[in-house]
Amino acid sequence: MKIIITGACGHIGSFLVENLYKIKKVKKAILIDNMKTNKFNSLFKLKKKPTFSFYQKDLSIKNSLSNFKNIDIIIHCASITDAANSFGIKKFMYKNNLGCMKTVLDYCIKNKTKLIHISTTSVYGKQANIVSENDHHLLNPQSPYADIKLIEEKLLSKNTNKIKFNSFRFGTIAGVSKGMRFHTAINKFCLNAALNKSITVYQTAYNQYRPYLSLRDSFKVFKFCIENSFFKNETFNALSGNFTVKQIIDRIKTYKKNAKIQYTKSPIMNQLTYHVSPLKLKKSGLVLKTDINKDIKDTLNLFKNIKNYEM
Ligand SMILES: NC(=O)c1ccc[n+]([C@@H]2O[C@H](COP(=O)([O-])OP(=O)(O)OC[C@H]3O[C@@H](n4cnc5c(N)ncnc54)[C@H](O)[C@@H]3O)[C@@H](O)[C@H]2O)c1
Repeated sequence: MKIIITGACGHIGSFLVENLYKIKKVKKAILIDNMKTNKFNSLFKLKKKPTFSFYQKDLSIKNSLSNFKNIDIIIHCASITDAANSFGIKKFMYKNNLGCMKTVLDYCIKNKTKLIHISTTSVYGKQANIVSENDHHLLNPQSPYADIKLIEEKLLSKNTNKIKFNSFRFGTIAGVSKGMRFHTAINKFCLNAALNKSITVYQTAYNQYRPYLSLRDSFKVFKFCIENSFFKNETFNALSGNFTVKQIIDRIKTYKKNAKIQYTKSPIMNQLTYHVSPLKLKKSGLVLKTDINKDIKDTLNLFKNIKNYEM
């Protein structure tokens, strides 16, 4: 089997690439990234198998995939992903992310290639005890980033008769990879705690539940789809658990006892709390329950030999 991984040098893509040898069906992997983030380190010391090829390409350019032949599956991770900063770069983000999506979608339709699309649980945004995939009335994206994800999902549902796909609404990622970033909640908290800086917390968010996904569970999602030819033309929530910021910080404090907190105002106006339901994926045969404690510990450990940090 030959696959393409877009955004292969990013946080999720690089973890998938490093672990790809665990999916025996995959013999060849084409890795694509525009390298705007310069994360060439994600390509260091890859295993010999599967066979990897790397292409530096901007996927927002129409037909930028047209030279690739006989691709069975595309795992589409290429996006600009900083939700909190997406207000300032809205126009560019629309052009880039929707451009990438259209290139990938057109390719998949034309070549009968299956698609694993990654959306986000940030498409939800209304007060609710628990939200599931069919609660369309609870969709309420709170940032341009999440708006775009919903548009991508709608593009897919308009084309259900033309391709095979799944769209996974991933919770916020936790865990260590070569291409990891530190602008999402858990990683940013760990970075600040590790460097003895205050953990900045949105005042309104301290006791709000949000869904998180361990990188190791994200890999299980990809493995499950590939090994079981699981392509249902549907949307699935994917999360390891729902936690409050307080619960995350309490976990950080078990490893970093003197972690400090500073409260701030949120640019994202979501004052609401909700649990995201993992049941649909569970009923389809994939149970995600990796403990994010290890991801927190591993992230803090990256910095363990730095005794003092001064700006
Ligand atoms: N990390 C999370 O918490 C999280 C949560 C939910 C969903 N997601 C989604 O998962 C996917 C992967 O996320 P990530 O955390 O690995 O993001 P990331 O920002 O770490 O990686 C994205 C990669 O895409 C590449 N890219 C961006 N625009 C491109 C273009 N025009 N052409 C080619 N490459 C391009 C970037 O260079 C980067 O390496 C994204 O769609 C993201 O929205 C991430």
